[in-house]
Amino acid sequence: METISNKLIAAGILAVLTLISGMMVSRSGKPLNIWLVTLHKLIAVAGVVLIVIIVNQLFKSADGKTIVTIGLMTISAILFLALIATGAFLTREEMELPAFVLKIHQVVPLLALASSSLTVYLLLPNKG
Ligand code: HEM
Repeated sequence: METISNKLIAAGILAVLTLISGMMVSRSGKPLNIWLVTLHKLIAVAGVVLIVIIVNQLFKSADGKTIVTIGLMTISAILFLALIATGAFLTREEMELPAFVLKIHQVVPLLALASSSLTVYLLLPNKG
């Protein structure tokens, strides 16, 4: 349990750093600062990998694997994939992108955070 707590804290820190670095990328304007984008991308991907490790670890030992938990896991996976895909498009500045691509990349982080946090919460043992 202790190792899971450490991983959860690390995932929380990575999530906050991803949001902050994303906002820094947006604020630094065009052309995009490639160092900031790379930093943002690496932190984001490390965070997603850590969440996958946590959910996988919890899922193996969880007793209540309900359809709700599995549904939330699927939704979280789709949301993270959408972030990685829109992020990749946003990085390619030579492409003329429709405005909704940035909108997705701005709104989905909060949804992904909410659904993955809820997934982890539902999988945690001893909730009382
Ligand atoms: C968990 C995954 C991710 C999250 C939560 C996330 C979050 C964010 C946030 C909150 C912003 C700031 C948006 C704004 O305030 O306007 C942003 C911007 C950005 N992100 Fe991500 N991001 C993720 C993954 C990625 C990946 C994998 C890439 C690159 C492949 C990427 C590339 C970008 C770019 C280029 C911007 C600047 C967009 C612009 O203003 O033109 N992001 N991200």
